[in-house]
Amino acid sequence: MNSEVIMDRGRAIENDYIYLGNVAEYVQNENLFRFRCGKTEVLIKVLAEDIIRILMKPNEVPSLDTTQGVIFKDNKEVEINATEFEDKVIINTNKLKMQVNKIPFGVEIYDYEGDLIYKSYDKCFLGWKGKNIACFSEIREEERFYGFGEKAGTLDKRGESLSMWNTDIFDPHNPHTKELYVSIPFFIGLAKGKSYGIFLDNPSRTHFNMGEGQDKYYSFEAEAGKLDYYFIYGPEMKRVVSRYTDITGKMPLPPKWALGYHQSKYSYSTEEEVKELANNFRKKEIPCDVIHLDIHYMDEYRVFTWNLHRFPDPEKMIQDLKEMGFHIVNIVNPGVKKDPEYKYYVEGMLNNYFCKKIDGSAYIGRVWPGESAFPDFTKQETRKWWGKNHKAFTDIGIEGIWNDMNEPAVFRDEQNGGLEDKTMDLDVIHDNDGKPATHRELHNLYGMLVSRSTYEGLKGLLKGKRPFVLTRAGYSGIQRYAAVWTGDNRSFWEHLSMTMPMVMNMGLSGIPFAGPDAGGFMGNSNGELLTRWIQLGVFTPFFRNHNSINQLSQEPWAFGEKYEKIIKEYIRLRYKLMPHLYSIFYEASITGIPVMRPLVLEYQDDPEVYNLNDEFLVGDSILVAPICKPDTKFRVVYLPKGIWYDYWTKEKYVGGKYIMIYAPLDRLPIFIKRGAIIPMAPALNYMGEKEIKELTFEIYADTESRYTLYEDDGETFEYEEGKYSLTYFECKNNEKQIIFKISSQKTDFDTGRERYILKFNDMEKKPEEVKCNEKMLEEVEENQMLNGKNYWYFNGKERVLYVIIKDSKPEADTIIVNDTCAY
Ligand code: GLC
Repeated sequence: MNSEVIMDRGRAIENDYIYLGNVAEYVQNENLFRFRCGKTEVLIKVLAEDIIRILMKPNEVPSLDTTQGVIFKDNKEVEINATEFEDKVIINTNKLKMQVNKIPFGVEIYDYEGDLIYKSYDKCFLGWKGKNIACFSEIREEERFYGFGEKAGTLDKRGESLSMWNTDIFDPHNPHTKELYVSIPFFIGLAKGKSYGIFLDNPSRTHFNMGEGQDKYYSFEAEAGKLDYYFIYGPEMKRVVSRYTDITGKMPLPPKWALGYHQSKYSYSTEEEVKELANNFRKKEIPCDVIHLDIHYMDEYRVFTWNLHRFPDPEKMIQDLKEMGFHIVNIVNPGVKKDPEYKYYVEGMLNNYFCKKIDGSAYIGRVWPGESAFPDFTKQETRKWWGKNHKAFTDIGIEGIWNDMNEPAVFRDEQNGGLEDKTMDLDVIHDNDGKPATHRELHNLYGMLVSRSTYEGLKGLLKGKRPFVLTRAGYSGIQRYAAVWTGDNRSFWEHLSMTMPMVMNMGLSGIPFAGPDAGGFMGNSNGELLTRWIQLGVFTPFFRNHNSINQLSQEPWAFGEKYEKIIKEYIRLRYKLMPHLYSIFYEASITGIPVMRPLVLEYQDDPEVYNLNDEFLVGDSILVAPICKPDTKFRVVYLPKGIWYDYWTKEKYVGGKYIMIYAPLDRLPIFIKRGAIIPMAPALNYMGEKEIKELTFEIYADTESRYTLYEDDGETFEYEEGKYSLTYFECKNNEKQIIFKISSQKTDFDTGRERYILKFNDMEKKPEEVKCNEKMLEEVEENQMLNGKNYWYFNGKERVLYVIIKDSKPEADTIIVNDTCAY
């Protein structure tokens, strides 16, 4: 060990830390390497050819236990080749070469092209100061940093310092706000087109300094527990995200209704109000699937109860709304009212389910119900109990729950100003499934465990149906249980803009199902802001309009007909895109790759997109560039390489440059990449309103492109047993001929589809002929319908070829369009 003042550019870097010195001893045991430096042992575990875990606890041998964030199973089979030299140990896997230096202790990781991917900082690497433990690493030239979960500010976090502590932040967050509701201690470093990820598995308060004020090193540090981090190799960013979600889990496929539009308010507080709201949506034919019930539905905010004056017959109400196609999602907060005559408080006290102080008494804090006890979700029995309590909801037809205040948020003393960013006392002891630890050590896990208990409880109770859980707080792995909304934003344009980098970084951090309160929560919205926010919301994975008490209403019709008309068309667009969106969600559930993507995820070699904050991709072929300022009709859009089509005008652009786009209030700039094959359905008022018998495919034929359409029943877990359908589409275009193939990969779910409308966009001229499986198709007048037949027509004005064919699943179909001169 050595302790020295380390100077860098005249500044002392963290000079009262104790750093590890030289390696005194080294032992390999299968995939585990132990390096002893003084009394401290550093463990390096090669978990896979591209994942390396590094652990250190000052003056101890760290335990290999993980938090509940991790689900990755150790693989001792990984092929490793290790050689010891006097001053270093070289550990090779099939993907990486890791050099562990002994004098002093340090690591360097290279790929097989010889490029340095990750390196500990030369002057100091692992160190500690009191209970804090830190790791310093070198910043590569031009390195950018992404991820960090739910954070304010811009996409790239280079030069910033951030920290992780789940916080109920009521004052409006701004780019300097370091801590919000969710903590994901994970980031991606990208330099020279090559990326890696670091995941620090520690739920205490953690700090990340990504080169603030200097450009040599970055550091991460935990205030309690051990230093336990995973290095994940890319080099593609997509690969990093995918592997990070192998470690922390993927999002299960949500019920399809949860992808629809959600309407919420704090609070729709009577049955009449809710029914009137529901009737309005249907009368106005504005699609909506979900209505949220905020805290006023409860009896004095007691969880799992109803205020029967306001909601005299919840079961009937839920049933009636279900018949109209609405799902109700009720808010459930963790605080349990301290009331000796209240069932859940009594049960919790008698069975030791609540968090306790060191003297054994229950911790009591003040939240909405007044003085409340807090279930200890780190304990399995508590999680089970809490989960089962949801029977009160599932018995009356509820399939979705909204977890709020689960940081956990605790109000400050009234004298000090009421609502504040306070949490449970830090010396509260959690059971931690038999390994007691303080709240200080586990804080960031609490919210995720609330949602875990909720999700698992609902899953058991719903007997085969997919639950929907929405959460405000979370830790790495939260995606396994819940969608995340980004908490209490404000009805101002800055928060509309900030939504984009925030949700994109959440996507890069393993959380594909996220979104803001569209329209803004606090403060009064207005017609223009709501319209622009709904336009953006159509493309955020989670799409909910929610606003606070005592603010102007912001339902789609709240600001008059002019705005309502536009908002309605955009919500309908979300529903039209549902087959596509659902397929992208499916991809996210398998690969972890997000639904809403920063451009850097698809174009990591293009420096123009490294900090592009106001555009994003949905999947890989739809580019959205929202308007984020009032009174704005034009904006600049960057199109990356490739050919792009304006979704509305079909105008064609060559990418790799900036363009100026006209976008009046009813126009959200959307671009489709050539090569895209996008299935669209008729707009429904809610999911499952009607059986969809035909899909329209928007095709932008490139030399070669592919698409996979995923379909299942949208509400059960039968897809896990293979009951789903996968249809492959392949399009080849050699400028004279387009060959379009449709083939079934899997047909274990009956889609009920009868036909396809294939729309070939950007055709130079009317084709000579169109064949399907060698048979010539009949050409008909535009918009003429021939029942039960395959045919085509050409719209010369739009330059679009329409080919209408029967869905002959499971047979394959090949459509050949001859003499096309497409594009
Ligand atoms: C919190 C939530 C907000 C909710 C309110 C009342 O502020 O973030 O969404 O409406 O509490 O429950």
